[in-house]
Amino acid sequence: MPNVEIARAEAKDLDEILRIQKRAYLSEAAIYGAERIPPLSETIEAVKSDWERKTVLKATVLGRLAGSVRLELEGALCRLGRFSVRPELQGRGIGSALLTASERVFPEARQIELFTGSRSEANLRLYASHGYVRVREEPLPGGVSIVYLRKTIPGIPACPAFSSTTQPADENVDASRRLPRQGP
Ligand SMILES: CC(C)(COP(=O)(O)OP(=O)(O)OC[C@H]1O[C@@H](n2cnc3c(N)ncnc32)[C@H](O)[C@@H]1OP(=O)(O)O)[C@@H](O)C(=O)NCCC(=O)NCCS
Repeated sequence: MPNVEIARAEAKDLDEILRIQKRAYLSEAAIYGAERIPPLSETIEAVKSDWERKTVLKATVLGRLAGSVRLELEGALCRLGRFSVRPELQGRGIGSALLTASERVFPEARQIELFTGSRSEANLRLYASHGYVRVREEPLPGGVSIVYLRKTIPGIPACPAFSSTTQPADENVDASRRLPRQGP
């Protein structure tokens, strides 16, 4: 797998981010037999509004957008959502690269929280392997629940390339190469 580059998403990326998200979340919809899950019905206007308020990271492989994640800071808690990777590129570490980069976005963040469905076994396994632990569950009709997981962010400095809240990074940043150079 060639290098995965992680950078802040730009306005021009948003259409493609939504297209990938809508393909990626079909697998979640199939698990729950529900086509109306929010990531599948989201409009481009909603994505733009999120992009203006949150930090959207994109993963790029050989110059092609491969996935994204949205992050929002609330106190010392970073909330992570709309995590998606192009279906044909899943299982190659792109999601993991996005998760790892997400921990470096907000210098103030001490924990990072995300959620998934109780039947999303692959997601639960991935998050456990990254050190996320269950903090609560919200039952839904039909015997499923939303599982919230948290990870305490390791004490490594935030990456300035990801942390600006309104301006996209000037250039793509290869997280794996650049992060070790960010000294305290
Ligand atoms: C969740 C999601 C973003 C993860 O992205 P991904 O790129 O597949 O994630 P990774 O490749 O890093 O990890 C997936 C698995 O592949 C494995 N993997 C990572 N790199 C690998 C490699 N080079 N070779 C083989 N396997 C690899 C990981 O260890 C992980 O294994 P696991 O299933 O045993 O935990 C993606 O599956 C997706 O878009 N799903 C649909 C939408 C969704 O459910 N989003 C999350 C909602 S909470």
